[in-house]
Amino acid sequence: MSSHGTPIPMTARKAGPLSGTADVPGDKSISHRSLILGAMAVGETRVTGLLEGQDVLDTAKAMRAFGAEVDKQGDTWVIHGVGTGGFAEPDNVIDCGNSGTGVRLIMGAMATTPITATFTGDASLNKRPMARVTDPLALFGARAYGRSGGRLPMTIVGAEAAVPVRYEVPVPSAQVKSAVLLAGLAAPGETVVIEREATRDHSERMLAGFGAQISTEVTNEARIITLTGQPELRPQTIVVPRDPSSAAFPVCAALIVEGSDVLVPNIGLNPTRAGLFTTLREMGADLTYENMREEGGEPVADLRARFSPDLKGIEVPPDRAASMIDEYPVLSVVAAFAEGKTHMPGVKELRVKESDRIDAMATGLRACGVEVDEGEDWWTVHGRGHGAVAGGATVESHLDHRIAMSFMVLGFAANAPVTVDDGGPIATSFPIFEPLMAGLGAEITRGQG
Ligand code: S3P
Repeated sequence: MSSHGTPIPMTARKAGPLSGTADVPGDKSISHRSLILGAMAVGETRVTGLLEGQDVLDTAKAMRAFGAEVDKQGDTWVIHGVGTGGFAEPDNVIDCGNSGTGVRLIMGAMATTPITATFTGDASLNKRPMARVTDPLALFGARAYGRSGGRLPMTIVGAEAAVPVRYEVPVPSAQVKSAVLLAGLAAPGETVVIEREATRDHSERMLAGFGAQISTEVTNEARIITLTGQPELRPQTIVVPRDPSSAAFPVCAALIVEGSDVLVPNIGLNPTRAGLFTTLREMGADLTYENMREEGGEPVADLRARFSPDLKGIEVPPDRAASMIDEYPVLSVVAAFAEGKTHMPGVKELRVKESDRIDAMATGLRACGVEVDEGEDWWTVHGRGHGAVAGGATVESHLDHRIAMSFMVLGFAANAPVTVDDGGPIATSFPIFEPLMAGLGAEITRGQG
């Protein structure tokens, strides 16, 4: 089922080569943070290039419910923030739809203000673990009342007199790190977050941009992030870079569809996000970075991906997992078209995403004629090589945009069409996926094959 409507089956089939330019939408992580930090600043933040996917629109709606003004004027999103600690108590339940990032960051942002808010989501989000966020928020003095197992719907009662926190994040999660940092904004004194594995650092970069005092000490064992509470955040003008996690889909499609040559311009290559591209190059992908430059303090390049008939399976280093955590589903599709095994260890976080992504991909890949082995923390795809992936199946997307798009990519190169039972969730992160892929020459239709 799609989150708010009837399922939309989608079918992908083999067509001619993919060619042209793929202008993918804005970065989802940076879009959520632009709205939330804009709402916590004093004055007018202006954002262009915001991802207008459902996840981000749900966060915009939530920020209005907490008292910020959020409007779109032409191409620019304009946010009038209420200041750190200035959130009003929402009149109604906050529905974050499909978005783990939305709900976890917003819980953090309100947890050190003495207000109460109740959060819910769709069937996927209401299954996901929230204790990873509410445990550290309790240390600030907030209380959480949710369903058993720490699930949504859940009410957070913000701390009356927040205290700062020193917290070591027990799982590699930028959402948890960010929730703690956002909570630290309205607490007095220094909040310290320690992470053993580097996860995406957009919150740290953007908090510094908004004028917070924040520093990161990098040692051999950890990154120690220190934030001074109760800053007055200064409103910003933000140009959201394009999303490397969305770029992954046209890039991977071009690598496996015969004769393809696709340019994906202006992609952020922040090292905490670019692990997929390194991995693809190690597999022998013809993937080049053109026009390398810096924009807004981040490395940016135009990616050029060409059909790569001689892809090889590899061992993906586990310490790379955090930098490509959202890309394993589409990597597993490329791995199916490679020669030999691709082994992906250190990825148990995949089991608590919008779906259990190892299970969802393994089941669908097997239905498409690809052998997959899996354990709790790892999986291995047995590549069949170019031209030898059968397809010809209907697979379930489990309310997960990245599962739906990954199987569409598989269908562009498999020997028989591939249908996903519901492509509706694609709109959460990549609302223009269908026309963009069709514009490159892919064949994608609504309905059963
Ligand atoms: C995100 C962090 C990651 C990622 C998600 C976006 C973020 O989740 O999977 O799509 O914007 O902070 P985790 O924090 O659960 O690893």
